[in-house]
Amino acid sequence: MTKFSKVELEKSVDLAKKALQEATNEWEINQVRSKYLGAKSPIQSWLNDLPGLSIEEKKLQGPLLNQAKKQLEQLARERIEGLLEEQAFPPIDISTPEYGQPYGHLHPISHVLSTVYDVFSSLGFAIVDGPEIESDWYNFEALNQPPEHPARDMQDTFYLKKQGVDEPDTHLPRTQTSAMQVRFMEQHEPPFKIIVPGRVFRNEDEDRTHSWSFYQIEGLVVGENVSLSDLKGTLNHVMRAILGEETKIRLRPSFFPYTEPSVEIDAWYNGEWLEMAGAGMVHPQVLENAGIDSVRYSGFAFGLGAERIAMVKYGVSDIRYFWRPNFRYLRQF
Ligand code: DAH
Repeated sequence: MTKFSKVELEKSVDLAKKALQEATNEWEINQVRSKYLGAKSPIQSWLNDLPGLSIEEKKLQGPLLNQAKKQLEQLARERIEGLLEEQAFPPIDISTPEYGQPYGHLHPISHVLSTVYDVFSSLGFAIVDGPEIESDWYNFEALNQPPEHPARDMQDTFYLKKQGVDEPDTHLPRTQTSAMQVRFMEQHEPPFKIIVPGRVFRNEDEDRTHSWSFYQIEGLVVGENVSLSDLKGTLNHVMRAILGEETKIRLRPSFFPYTEPSVEIDAWYNGEWLEMAGAGMVHPQVLENAGIDSVRYSGFAFGLGAERIAMVKYGVSDIRYFWRPNFRYLRQF
């Protein structure tokens, strides 16, 4: 029969209390509890020994042991509750209505582009991507614009420099998606029909109708017997699909170094003629630059401005609105 001294019991209780205070999580608290109150703990073994003691001893020791046990049990419970409270997240009210945050939406230019993709895909055009940083050759020279050509003046851009060299590099942010014409034709055998949507960059003074960067949709069709009437028929269909069935188009003579003849496409919309695209029959030299037999093959090309389409379609008067983070404006579409 083991008896215990009051001092021993107090020592055990003090150690248990200290360990409970130091425990930092529920698992540690339970470890302490089983060490000081579990089956193999001193307190439990003293309790186990009680039945063998005399009545007087039982009366003396029983209450002391039970009191110590209760006290420690309660402290352990309190510690666990305290920890849970500390760790708890603020309650979430799942019934709270949303705070009026708007859903995301497509940018107006994305709207225009997806309409454009639909129309051209339905005509069997492939949609092709090209690099935004382009060589001088593809952007200008292969399109009959050698360095001294005056047409370059209309498309000044941001020339890149090689590190440590003062001369402009031979690469530049493309000024026109037409840059993809020769790049694509070098790699593909006619016949083909493609559009090349993408961003272009120009060193422009910004105003209502000019921006330093905007989106173009280049079109290129090459095959045997492709003619100007194919160009007109295609763009007539496209303009009607984009702007509405009542839209008409007209061709006006123009000049681009990479088309012959060159035309400007105007659309009759809301009671006026609006300039919508540059276009023409691909210049034989451009076909030859890409290694395509210009006697056997002919083609047409055109360049549409995505912002221009959006401005006409949605009645927007200033191109600069599209690329400013003014959500009151952008959300309307
Ligand atoms: N590249 C011209 C521009 O940026 C647009 C253009 C005109 C594209 C005539 C063409 C074309 O393919 O044939 O202003």
